[in-house]
Amino acid sequence: MKVLVVGGGGREHALVWKIAQSPLVDKIYCAPGNPGTADAAENVALAVDDIDGLCAFAKKNQIDLTVVGPELPLTLGMVDRFKAEGLAVFGPSKAAAQLEGSKGFSKDLMAKYNIVTAAYASFSDRDAAVEYIREQGAPIVVKVDGLAAGKGVILAQTEQEAIDAVDDILVRKTFGDAGDSVVIEEFLTGEEASFFAFTDGKNILPLASAQDHKQIFNGDKGPNTGGMGAYSPAPVVTAPLYERIVAEVVQPTIDGMAAEGCPYCGILFIGVMIENDDFKVLEFNARFGDPEAQPLLSRMKSDVVPVLLDCARGELTTKALEWYDRASVCVVMAAGGYPADYAKGDIISGIDDANAVDGVRVFHAGTAEVDGNIVTAGGRVLGVTGWGDDVASAIEKAYEGTQKISWNGAQFRTDIGKKALNR
Ligand code: AMP
Ligand code: GLY
Repeated sequence: MKVLVVGGGGREHALVWKIAQSPLVDKIYCAPGNPGTADAAENVALAVDDIDGLCAFAKKNQIDLTVVGPELPLTLGMVDRFKAEGLAVFGPSKAAAQLEGSKGFSKDLMAKYNIVTAAYASFSDRDAAVEYIREQGAPIVVKVDGLAAGKGVILAQTEQEAIDAVDDILVRKTFGDAGDSVVIEEFLTGEEASFFAFTDGKNILPLASAQDHKQIFNGDKGPNTGGMGAYSPAPVVTAPLYERIVAEVVQPTIDGMAAEGCPYCGILFIGVMIENDDFKVLEFNARFGDPEAQPLLSRMKSDVVPVLLDCARGELTTKALEWYDRASVCVVMAAGGYPADYAKGDIISGIDDANAVDGVRVFHAGTAEVDGNIVTAGGRVLGVTGWGDDVASAIEKAYEGTQKISWNGAQFRTDIGKKALNR
């Protein structure tokens, strides 16, 4: 069969790498892809939000399955369009992708179906929002309702910071229409984990546990990023917590979405905050995590393609995924300056040397090929992924990989996975 993967980051390179291992697959395309995806797929120069172009491409090339990586095309309705054209596509509809596309929608769903989350209220009126902040006090969290490229969550330490955020969003419209309303919520403390489940809209198939590292610097310091490294399994998600998240979050969310008339198909990503062996939901995303996909897919023993196809067809038959016993750790190497302004076009050396290490795979994210060189082309540049018998040896492998790679200004955290060792 022929598969089209939509996206061009580390997540999509990992998807292409895993899909290429399936005996069911003859040909993979990736749009727009990156120099890493080009190893196993034919890259297609179409942007992720070019729904017309991608749909025409899929029809012309008789694509049997399209896998949508990032959130933007999902919230723009790519899946609805593909389905209307009779194409098999993995991902939620536009209505279901509101779970990520609107914080207000997801919080209201959680409230209605008794899914435990931070206390909150939604506002489109500035003065009412300010009054609520004054009532609740700080610290407090202000969230842009719509998609904001990871910049829409303000962890305000003071009431004034929260009020300034509300003014930015609702009055100055810094986030445009995405900021027509805000969610203001309780500030949670604890340790975050990322939880994923495949679903056809009715049945669920949970993945192994994982943990991301959101902040740019060691020790979870500095501003939030898209994710500076991830690993699996994550011992913070104990076996009882795992079972509770499935029973108390995943299943009621999928049942609730179906009851609301927008069944959710694809992969559901739940961000949870864990403290004292208890948890609350931070957020939903309508897609695979990046970089969580890299360690998860490199631990997955089951062929992922039948699962993706079943979800796309609305008939998930696999009852459990098989995993390799090994742990996997992905260290993100980023361009200097990221998550603020950063340079592009720096020549990267050592990727082949890192890939030559047994148990190391370098997934490309923000890279480009220029005159035969691989150069930096984004904030998060590479996801150097290592695996081993346990998290400690997987960490060693991943950092053996990063040591081989260099470019001008490269930065990465040196404590990825450390929280697992402390348990
Ligand atoms: P979100 O996009 O909602 O996941 O928020 C991005 C990040 O902000 C999360 O991964 C957390 O690190 C942090 N965050 C979000 N909501 C809260 C909250 N209620 N309390 C504390 N931190 C939060
Ligand atoms: N790594 C977190 C995310 O994909 O949003």
